[in-house]
Amino acid sequence: MKFLTLVAGFSAAFAAVSAQSSNQSICDKYTTALLKDNNATNQKTVLTLVVNTALIGTYSNATGAPKNNVTGILNNGTYGGQPVSLLKFFDGSLKSTNRNGNPTAVNFLDGGGAEPLKMNMPANDSSSNQYTLVTHLYEFFGTLLGCSDQTQNGPFMTYQGVQSMSQVHRFMNLDETEMNYFIEQVGMSATSFGVSDADAMTVGNSLNKTFNYRCAPPVVLGPGFANVSQSTCLAADCMVYSPPDCNQMGDSYPNGTNNAQPQSAAASGSSSGSSGSGGSGMSGKDGSSSLIVNFVGALALAAAGAIAVSL
Ligand code: HEM
Ligand SMILES: *[C@@H]1O[C@H](CO)[C@@H](O)[C@H](O)[C@H]1NC(C)=O
Ligand SMILES: *[C@@H]1O[C@H](CO)[C@@H](O)[C@H](O)[C@H]1NC(C)=O
Ligand SMILES: *[C@@H]1O[C@H](CO)[C@@H](O)[C@H](O)[C@H]1NC(C)=O
Ligand SMILES: *[C@@H]1O[C@H](CO)[C@@H](O)[C@H](O)[C@H]1NC(C)=O
Ligand SMILES: *[C@@H]1O[C@H](CO)[C@@H](O)[C@H](O)[C@H]1NC(C)=O
Ligand SMILES: *[C@@H]1O[C@H](CO)[C@@H](O)[C@H](O)[C@H]1NC(C)=O
Ligand SMILES: *[C@@H]1O[C@H](CO)[C@@H](O)[C@H](O)[C@H]1NC(C)=O
Ligand SMILES: *[C@@H]1O[C@H](CO)[C@@H](O)[C@H](O)[C@H]1NC(C)=O
Ligand SMILES: *[C@@H]1O[C@H](CO)[C@@H](O)[C@H](O)[C@H]1NC(C)=O
Repeated sequence: MKFLTLVAGFSAAFAAVSAQSSNQSICDKYTTALLKDNNATNQKTVLTLVVNTALIGTYSNATGAPKNNVTGILNNGTYGGQPVSLLKFFDGSLKSTNRNGNPTAVNFLDGGGAEPLKMNMPANDSSSNQYTLVTHLYEFFGTLLGCSDQTQNGPFMTYQGVQSMSQVHRFMNLDETEMNYFIEQVGMSATSFGVSDADAMTVGNSLNKTFNYRCAPPVVLGPGFANVSQSTCLAADCMVYSPPDCNQMGDSYPNGTNNAQPQSAAASGSSSGSSGSGGSGMSGKDGSSSLIVNFVGALALAAAGAIAVSL
């Protein structure tokens, strides 16, 4: 109960397991099911598997038997019959990254791209844009899923990135289809490792509510989080929060760019850069070294029909 009582009611919606008897968070429940010992290292491993698979799709040698194949956020896919192509936001081809309030082209695949992800690492180094982004995703989704052993000092650190998702995604002008695809891939990655459909649905619905509305008011996501807007769907076709709160002071940009599309990096105009460290709050503070996962067999198959993972 310790974790859940610490967490504001809001993020408990993510953390709580939807059904039945267990009062463990989703993170703790599946860490126990897949790796037996529910500690910081293993929680980070589970988040690594789920995030890496969501990004690049099922990687054949990472899972013994995926329950479903995942296409991956970085690969072309479809949502609701419409084509989706998100790679352009990650490979530096658009000026869609917020660097000190300027739309900037940044290559987030500069740490070796998919290859290190397939080896359960965030990147092939610890100084790339890729390392910072992917590590932040482990930390952020770890908190959303209620991992109980994240700390300031590691091995599984609390979230070290920018607090407001509206600030981070300000210039991407993500639309509903893009957002729904991203959320669906996260859910499909989770179920591929044995997370139940009911638990994945709980997470998906929470992601929908929290990030998929334009002009959402400030909210505190969990312990250590600031009270800022988390609006990530920022294009004109996004659902609008009721009542709308489009103009906010400080570091929230819940209406994005009023539907302005990000420019191509090749277009003339404001500067583009590929520097990763960014400046004011955009840089990572993570000191932890690359994750080296090394475990075999002896996996508990306790809850919810979880499947074996062999690396
Ligand atoms: C539920 C939806 C989403 C959530 C919760 C989410 C969360 C995050 C988080 C936590 C970061 C790290 C920020 C930091 O390091 O300071 C991030 C960065 C990023 N996200 Fe998202 N994201 C979502 C949807 C999307 C979608 C649909 C795209 C489209 C391609 C996208 C593209 C990116 C990019 C390119 C970055 C790097 C930005 C930067 O470092 O400034 N995200 N996101
Ligand atoms: C779950 O609840 C039971 C009974 O209330 C308690 O003994 C146990 O410590 C709780 N476990 C967690 C992980 O919160
Ligand atoms: C977590 O448990 C694993 C064994 O499952 C062990 O190798 C690892 O050192 C433990 N990590 C921590 C932080 O206790
Ligand atoms: C996933 O794809 C692989 C390779 O195409 C295939 O062998 C496997 O049967 C698929 N698994 C499921 C659950 O669809
Ligand atoms: C993915 O889709 C985009 C947009 O339709 C297209 O430009 C690109 O060539 C496609 N990439 C691959 C690998 O099929
Ligand atoms: C990591 O990958 C990048 C390409 O993304 C490459 O330039 C670099 O040399 C690689 N570094 C190491 C240590 O392998
Ligand atoms: C997984 O596959 C990648 C690329 O095919 C390879 O570099 C890596 O060593 C493999 N990992 C393991 C644990 O076998
Ligand atoms: C998120 O909301 C959209 C729009 O209401 C809906 O189509 C989609 O199914 C929802 N996704 C999840 C995972 O709940
Ligand atoms: C966050 O800010 C909003 C609007 O300013 C306010 O209504 C809400 O009570 C704040 N939440 C917390 C937890 O401080
Ligand atoms: C928010 O952006 C939309 C376009 O997506 C625009 O029509 C609307 O005027 C903006 N609202 C405010 C308050 O800026």
